[in-house]
Amino acid sequence: MELFTTVQQVREQVRTWKKQGFTVGLVPTMGFLHEGHKSLIDRAVAENDKVVVSVFVNPIQFGPNEDFAQYPRDLEKDAALCENAGAAILFHPEPEEMYPNGFCTHVDVTGVTDNLCGAKRPGHFQGVCTVVSKLFHMVAPDRAYFGEKDAQQLAVIRRMVQDLNFDLEVVGCPIIRESDGLAKSSRNTYLNPEERRAALVLNRALTAAKSVMERGERRADRILPVIQAELGEEPLAKVDYVKMVDSLTMEDVETAERDVLVAIAVYIGKTRLIDNFTFQIQ
Ligand code: PAF
Repeated sequence: MELFTTVQQVREQVRTWKKQGFTVGLVPTMGFLHEGHKSLIDRAVAENDKVVVSVFVNPIQFGPNEDFAQYPRDLEKDAALCENAGAAILFHPEPEEMYPNGFCTHVDVTGVTDNLCGAKRPGHFQGVCTVVSKLFHMVAPDRAYFGEKDAQQLAVIRRMVQDLNFDLEVVGCPIIRESDGLAKSSRNTYLNPEERRAALVLNRALTAAKSVMERGERRADRILPVIQAELGEEPLAKVDYVKMVDSLTMEDVETAERDVLVAIAVYIGKTRLIDNFTFQIQ
């Protein structure tokens, strides 16, 4: 595996591969890789001849009071995971390589970014779409892999790819959970043991809502209170949002008549965690 830090290195290698007829998969990440990322890389390796993993903690997708500085980083461990999983390139640019002096172009997806995390984290999806567009132009992948844990991010990127005619397939991959149900996230490392135990309430609350829906309930005003009640039982949990939205547009729905996303964001202490499930209507 090659460890590249410049756009030129990546471009030259990808051009050579394309001339040789190889397909290319891209897994964009912010590093501190865990089993969730590994599942994306494994799938990319299974479906493409060559895989590029990017590790870049993207400053422009963090708000001024968010955790950019504290975001966990461990390049050596990430490189070992990527190499063992069969990636061909680990691309780890410095911020100056991605955003040289004078950089002033951003990609703004509207509508699908208005609700959920988009409403709570102004500028976040503009930062995500800008960096992901840049990576798509640098790597020109045939397929790009994103986790369903960031369900709104996945919907926003699908919309952007369609609207801007990026010539690639966006592949969504299922949420990977710890054995006790907590969705894997690099931010789980912020939790102390008591918070780690408290964080289980997210999956418990979603599981309760899912079983209500499986018994036939479709109304948001009956489903969301089940989640709120479960979260209310945990003193360390502070709700940021609890929503049922259309799985494509991310708009609130009152009654699930098409596929819906049930999504929550909850602070456990100072750590903001997200989780969700998609409920398919037959
Ligand atoms: O999901 C992430 O880790 C990031 O938002 C992404 C897609 C790598 C863009 O920085």
